[in-house]
Amino acid sequence: MRVIAIVNQKGGCGKTTTTVNLAAALAADGARVLVIDIDPQAHATLALGIDPEKVNENLYEVLAEPDGPEYLQEIILKVGENLDLAPSGIVLSALEQKLASERVEARTERLGAALDSLPEDTYEYALIDCPPNVGVLTFNALRAASEVIIPLETSRFAMHGVEKLLETIALLTERIGHDLTVRILTTLYDGRTRFSRATLAEIRESFKDMCFDTVIRLNVKLREAAGRGRPIASFAASANGAVDHAALAVEVDASAPGASLDASAPVQPQSSLEVTPEASPLVQSAQLESSLEASSETAQPESSLEVSSKAAQPESSLEVASEAALPESSLEATPEASAPREVVVRFRDMQANDVRIAGDFNGWVPDKGVRSLIESEGQTRVWTKILLLAPGTYQYRYVVDGEWRADPENPEVISSAVGGRNSVLVVR
Ligand SMILES: Nc1ncnc2c1ncn2[C@@H]1O[C@H](COP(=O)(O)OP(=O)(O)OP(=O)(O)O)[C@@H](O)[C@H]1O
Ligand SMILES: [Mg+2]
Repeated sequence: MRVIAIVNQKGGCGKTTTTVNLAAALAADGARVLVIDIDPQAHATLALGIDPEKVNENLYEVLAEPDGPEYLQEIILKVGENLDLAPSGIVLSALEQKLASERVEARTERLGAALDSLPEDTYEYALIDCPPNVGVLTFNALRAASEVIIPLETSRFAMHGVEKLLETIALLTERIGHDLTVRILTTLYDGRTRFSRATLAEIRESFKDMCFDTVIRLNVKLREAAGRGRPIASFAASANGAVDHAALAVEVDASAPGASLDASAPVQPQSSLEVTPEASPLVQSAQLESSLEASSETAQPESSLEVSSKAAQPESSLEVASEAALPESSLEATPEASAPREVVVRFRDMQANDVRIAGDFNGWVPDKGVRSLIESEGQTRVWTKILLLAPGTYQYRYVVDGEWRADPENPEVISSAVGGRNSVLVVR
C-alpha cells in the first residue's frame, strides 16, 4: 500500500481538493483507495458526502488511546466504488491536548500502527488529508506515510513557508529514520494571470524534478463539487478539474518511489556540446528542471548550438533537410544509439492558458511522462515539451485549453482514425 500524506501548513492551498479528487481518480482507474481525513475541520469527510456530525466514530477513536489503532477498520465508511473513508470530526482538535502527556514517539505513531493493522492488500493507496498546521496530527500522517504531496497554490505567495516545511520533513525523516518521497503539486493555476504564470515558473525552477508535470488549474467546478459532497469526476466529468486530477492520478500511479517515469528510459548523452551559462534562459531553466546536460541541443533550436549540433551529425542519418526546413516546433534527435532520447517540441500562442501534448507515445494521456516548461517571448507564450522517445514514428496532438489540435508548426500530418489530423514526429 502506498501511503501518501497531503501536507502544507498553509491554509487553502488545495490539500483537501487534491486528496479527495486524486483518491477518486485513482479509484476510477481501478485502485482500492482509502482517504484518511485527519483534519479536525473534516472537509474531506464533507467533500465525500459524509456529515461528520452524523458519524458515531471517527479517527479520534483510533488516535486517542494506545489500543486505538486496532479500531481503524471499525470506523471506515464506503463512499464510492473502490473508495473508502476514515472520517474526521471536530473532536480531533482536542487530541493535541489529550496526548500532551504522552511520549512524542507514542503519540505520533498511532496512524502508522493503524494502517499496519489493516489486512494486507486491502488498499493500494491511503491518502491522508492533513490540517493546515504541523502538530501531532500531521506528524502522525508523516510517520505513517512513505510519500508526501505538497500542494502549492500559484495564485498567491505559495513559496512562503515551504522551505520551513521541507526542513521539518527532513528533520523528521532523519529522526524517525524513514524515507519520504516529497513531491510538489501546483494548484489553483490561472494561466490568464501573469502572477500565476510567474509563480509556476518560480516553483518549477526552485523544485525542479520534485514537481509533478500535472498542474491543477483553477476551476470553480472543484469548489462546487466539494460543496455537493462529491468528487469532481462524478460531478462534472469533463471539467478541467476532473481532467487535471485524472492526469495527476496517472502520474502518481506511474511514479511509485523507486519506479519513476523516467527510470525506465535511460537518457543517452546525445552530443558532446556543452551548454554554457550564457545560453538562453530557456535552456537554463530546462537544465534546472531536468537532466538536460544529456540533451543540451534539444532545448536550443534557436541558437548557434543547434546549428553546430546539426552540423556535427552525419547528414544521411537524420532527416536533416526536412528538419532544417521545419519551424522550431520540429524535433531534434541525434543519430547515435537506438536508446530513447530527449526530443523537444514547442507550441507558441498568445491566448492559450494550458497546453499539453498527447500522442501514441504516452497513450494519448495529455502530458503523461512529459516535462513541460512555459516561457514568455513578449506577448507570446512558449510551451516547451520534452519527450523521451525511442527511435520510431509517432503521432501526436496538442491539447490547447481542452481542444485537441494538430501542431500548427509541423507540416507533417496524417488523418486520424477518429477524425481530424494528427501531427507526425519521426525520431531517428
Ligand atoms: N483548483 C481549484 N480551483 C478552484 N477552487 C479550488 C481549487 N482548489 C481548491 N479550491 C477551493 O479553494 C478552497 C480551499 O481548497 P482546499 O479546501 O482544498 O484547501 P486546503 O489546503 O485543504 O485548506 P485547509 O488548509 O483549510 O485544509 C476550497 O473552497 C476549494 O474548493
Ligand atoms: Mg483541507
